Amino acid sequence: MEAAAKARTSVNGHGPRPLKGLPPGPRMHRVAQTAIWSRQAQWFLEQSRARFGPMFSIKIAYEGDWVVLADPELVKQVFTGDPKVFHAGEGNQILRPILGENSVLVLDEKKHIGQRKLLLPPFHGERMQAYGEKMTEIAAREIESWPTGVPYKLRPRMQAITLEIIIETVFGVHDGERMEPLREALRDFLDLTTNPRVLLPVLMVGPDRVNLIPAFRRRVERVDRLIATEIAERRRAEDLVEREDVLSMLVGARHEDGSPMSDKEIRDELLTLLVAGHETTATALSWAMERLTRHPEKLERLRAEVLDDEDAYLTATIQETLRLRPVIVIVVRKLTEAVELGGYELPAGAGVTPCIHLIHRDPNIYPEPDRFLPERFIDNPPGTYTWIPFGGGVRRCLGAAFAQFEMAVVLRELVRRRQIEPADPAPERNYRRAITETPRHDAEVILR
Ligand code: HEM
Repeated sequence: MEAAAKARTSVNGHGPRPLKGLPPGPRMHRVAQTAIWSRQAQWFLEQSRARFGPMFSIKIAYEGDWVVLADPELVKQVFTGDPKVFHAGEGNQILRPILGENSVLVLDEKKHIGQRKLLLPPFHGERMQAYGEKMTEIAAREIESWPTGVPYKLRPRMQAITLEIIIETVFGVHDGERMEPLREALRDFLDLTTNPRVLLPVLMVGPDRVNLIPAFRRRVERVDRLIATEIAERRRAEDLVEREDVLSMLVGARHEDGSPMSDKEIRDELLTLLVAGHETTATALSWAMERLTRHPEKLERLRAEVLDDEDAYLTATIQETLRLRPVIVIVVRKLTEAVELGGYELPAGAGVTPCIHLIHRDPNIYPEPDRFLPERFIDNPPGTYTWIPFGGGVRRCLGAAFAQFEMAVVLRELVRRRQIEPADPAPERNYRRAITETPRHDAEVILR
């Protein structure tokens, strides 16, 4: 923590002057660092933390320099920092050709806050009850269709559940005839954001020219046509005010000047919610089952409490899963000007990256950090800067309440309906899929 201590004194003007430039980090070539980062991010972060302390630099080919932060005090300074200086949207430009220029994920400052305000109401905690019944119905139907007695990969099935939940609660499409083509087109679209073979060309030609690739354009246009039809129908719907899906709420939402959202804005945000909320939640659910099946006594306790309609252990299990197996290992903010942090004057253009993985494995915050212990969160709610699976500040995940509610629904239905064992008792290691860290064997289990 020496670097952090320096920052505090120098901010007060009593300590040494900040060092200009980046903190030390691995000296390997940028290409080598990028290769290790993309295959073994967690190992790379842990090694660097052990060598250089809680603030170090790494070099990623297409991202530039990242200053990794593994100290909650430094993370707090970033999450509470001025959004004009700490840009998150700028770090997500690779998603712009896919999600569109209005996407809350790719914007910064005033434009970002404008879109975020429009999106917040449907994601408030108390709104979740409205989605609960639909989520339960979808989870129960899906789980009942799973085979028993044979090894079965849960991750693709969790993806099917999270996609169905988004189609019904976000898009508000229930009609079987319209649902199938939409489901198909959305699945194909999601491939653009999770398949490294597809993402690579986007990286190579850059976000501004990727639309020149016909195969890419065709995929986006197909999904756009279907969404345009849904938006047009919803604008005409007579029961708009009674409807509870997110699309209907966006049709009724107003900018600060009283104007409605354009079709293009709605389209961009719907696809943003799909991309941000689908794979992430499915991965977190897969990890929850991967961990629980390696700890049968905890799975049994969870089942007993769920059958008693108790939620405390369920909530703690979800929190512990997201601590020990966070779906995303870091979040990025690009500096628009030089910033003093942790004893350094970091240059404009550098990325600062609160490190979810390292904060969650800090033994000073979580004793025995590598153990799966949901008990640690019973009567001990997670801290704002020490439990950060959803990032933080004005960019904190908009769907955090939605995701945790959805996880609770699915886990409840699953443990209530099935006995579950691991297909292989050895723990599954992590595997990097584009952005998310998933269980290597897709959370393979045997259901009984
Ligand atoms: C377990 C599941 C999920 C995880 C682990 C997760 C994680 C994250 C993280 C780490 C960020 C970046 C935060 C930051 O930069 O500080 C984020 C942003 C975001 N997430 Fe999630 N997310 C999940 C589910 C969802 C769901 C279900 C939705 C919506 C349906 C959603 C919508 C968003 C949006 C819109 C943003 C951008 C917020 C902004 O830039 O203002 N996420 N999420």
